[in-house]
Parts: sequence; structure tokens; C-alpha cells
Amino acid sequence: MTPSTGEIKYYRVLFKISGEALMGSRPYGHDMGIIDQLCKDVADVYKLGVQVCIVVGGGNIFRGASASLSGCERASSDYIGMLATIINALILQKFLEKNLVDSRVLSAIPMATICEPYIRRKAIRHLEKGRVVIFAAGTGNPFFTTDTAAALRAVETNCDVILKGTQVSGVYSADPKKNEDAVMYDKLSYMDLLIRDLNVMDASAISLARENSVPIIVFSLKEEKIVNIVKGRGTYTIVSDYK
Ligand code: GTP
Repeated sequence: MTPSTGEIKYYRVLFKISGEALMGSRPYGHDMGIIDQLCKDVADVYKLGVQVCIVVGGGNIFRGASASLSGCERASSDYIGMLATIINALILQKFLEKNLVDSRVLSAIPMATICEPYIRRKAIRHLEKGRVVIFAAGTGNPFFTTDTAAALRAVETNCDVILKGTQVSGVYSADPKKNEDAVMYDKLSYMDLLIRDLNVMDASAISLARENSVPIIVFSLKEEKIVNIVKGRGTYTIVSDYK
């Protein structure tokens, strides 16, 4: 698909969706209404001709890091978490299809009966053919988060930006839900995030984005639409080489 107008700022984006975002106000699992809305938002971007990659987490089903704290070996917990991301990827694919968006699920852990294996060149070809590509199973390795998978896939597929959807409008000086004096930043450098430990993404994800100069846009999934962001509008914090 060819981008329709000159108003688009980012032509190939990686949208990172946490597993928790799929559960809405439920304690776990899936809120199909929220998932449908997220996929409608992706459809709006897709219709502009923007190439969209998605990395989805699995925390609405299983949280590897918490399970490891409860005594489950970290590597095993992480593998279970990776399987959870495959479930989420397949659900997202169904809702994208419902919204008339063509997509492919590519898993870092080959599971050929239910989805395609991750092959970088195949992913890029799918994007060029106008398919949303959903990357499942994180990086395929334990000890890496799905944020790191998002940064890795964004770099591998030459994305213009990582869109990190969160519960708040951007990056704040402190947790805005606990501290009313917290201020939101419009822009930050990668080093600001790393040094000040602002708790947006883990250090390996930020370092990967930094080394490859892929900006990270942090925005609210509830209050902002990615269609605005790909046009350079809306409320968010952008993390880049800015000094
Ligand atoms: P092109 O070759 O670019 O036309 O891509 P395509 O994905 O449309 O063609 P392909 O024949 O490779 O795939 C047809 C359908 O089968 C798509 O829905 C793919 O996601 C799916 N598919 C392709 N490879 C695999 C695989 O290894 N496992 C599973 N489960 N599905 C696959």
C-alpha cells in the first residue's frame, strides 16, 4: 500500500503493546472490547499506508518475572511468558482481520502449525506487501523482555520509530499516579532514560534503540491515538538523540 498523503511523519512503525493493555480493568486475560479498539486504531494507521509491526507482551496471561520471584526458575518462567505472547498475537490477528487488516504472525519460537517462524527478510517482505506483522514469542530467548524484543525487531526491520503504549501520557519525573508534582517531559535523550532510571523500558531495550538511533515515543493507549502520532501530532514523550 502506498502512503496516501504528505502528512505522515513515520512510514514504518513498531507498536509495542503490553499484555496488560489487553486485559483492560480485568485482573487477567482479555477484554475483547479493548482489543477491538486497539485493532481499530491500528486499522486507521494501516489505511494511511503506514507499515505497522506489532510486538505484544504476555503479562495478561503469565508474568515471567513475577513467577521467577515466587521460586519458578527464571528461564522456565520466561519460556512460559513467551508462549503467552503467541496467544496474544493470534488474538490480535483475529481482531485485525475483523477490522479488515491483513496481517501475519511470526514467532521467534518456531511453531509452524499455528504461525510462521520469524525470518527477518520474510517480515520485511510482508510489510512491503501491506501486511501488519505481529512478532510473537519475544526474542525467543529467556532473560529478555518484550520491550527488548520490540527494540530488536524495530532495528532489524528498519522501523522509523517505536511506539510504546502505556497507561500514562508520556515519561514523567515521578510516578504521576502517586506524585501530583510529577512533570511530563516532551522530549528526552536515551541517556536521560538510562541514567535517571525513569522506568519506561529496560536498559537493554533503550541501549539497542540508542545504538541504532531509533526514536521511542511513549504515549497513553487510552488518551492518544497512534494515527495522530504517525502524523507527528498528539501528546507524548519522544526519546531520541536529543541532548
Ligand atoms: P506471499 O508469499 O508474500 O504471498 O505471502 P503469504 O503469506 O500470503 O503466502 P504464503 O503462501 O506464505 O502463506 C499463506 C498463508 O499461510 C498466510 O496466512 C501465512 O501466514 C500462512 N503461513 C505461511 N507459512 C506458514 C507457516 O510456516 N506456518 C503457518 N502456520 N502458517 C503459515
